[in-house]
Amino acid sequence: MSSADLSSVELRIEGEADRPAVREVIVQAFGDHGHVVAELVDSLRQSTAWEGLAFVAENGTGLVGHVMFTRSLLDAPRRLVGVQVLSPLAVQPARQQQGIGARLVRHGLAALAARGDPLVFLEGSPGYYARFGFERASHHGFRSPSLRIPEPAFQVLRLPACRSWMTGTLVYPELFWQHDCVGLRKPPADDRGDEAGREGVGVSRTGPAGERGG
Ligand SMILES: CC(C)(COP(=O)(O)OP(=O)(O)OC[C@H]1O[C@@H](n2cnc3c(N)ncnc32)[C@H](O)[C@@H]1OP(=O)(O)O)[C@@H](O)C(=O)NCCC(=O)NCCS
Repeated sequence: MSSADLSSVELRIEGEADRPAVREVIVQAFGDHGHVVAELVDSLRQSTAWEGLAFVAENGTGLVGHVMFTRSLLDAPRRLVGVQVLSPLAVQPARQQQGIGARLVRHGLAALAARGDPLVFLEGSPGYYARFGFERASHHGFRSPSLRIPEPAFQVLRLPACRSWMTGTLVYPELFWQHDCVGLRKPPADDRGDEAGREGVGVSRTGPAGERGG
């Protein structure tokens, strides 16, 4: 895609009318797990974790990318702190590797920093998210919501409003558990036949940490 085509990709806040197209982008981007991720997104929008922080990328053909941030809690020694979780991030397969995902992430992070949010967490590929400043969360005193999240995949971005006392355990909203969208699931022993396929798809259904995805 030439830079002219890429410059034709506009970013904006997600509107209600975008929801069917957002679902389509997520289903296409996440493959086998697309519907689970799309269900989680629909549920999160109906919950107290939703603060309207979702952004879309569109060009002349329609929506080509989407990113969502929702509110979680950090159980810090001093008190509970409202923090954000980036999940999911999805770009239409035909438009991947063209910088759209990166633009969506940077656009969203700039909006969170402007709001004064202190911290953004995610489960994902360090190889992808390090370019935006994300670091291994355990290196900064943060504990993940589940031991089933491989440590390198549990990442944090500390924004200007972050304070040194803000450490502790990340607490996901109930919905992430209800939709079973946390960490890695290991199939029962008798399913080992197709374990490689399942593991390749990624650490969590919402976050990319495996070979495929981000
Ligand atoms: C992950 C995803 C959102 C990235 O968006 P994108 O627009 O394709 O990626 P960008 O163009 O912004 O970035 C491309 C760069 O990221 C790298 N990259 C993409 N996925 C990566 C991964 N899983 N691990 C490491 N690097 C990755 C590419 O190699 C490329 O690197 P380069 O800039 O050094 O050439 C997109 O590939 C996607 O939707 N994947 C399927 C759904 C998914 O797994 N989403 C996970 C996010 S929760």
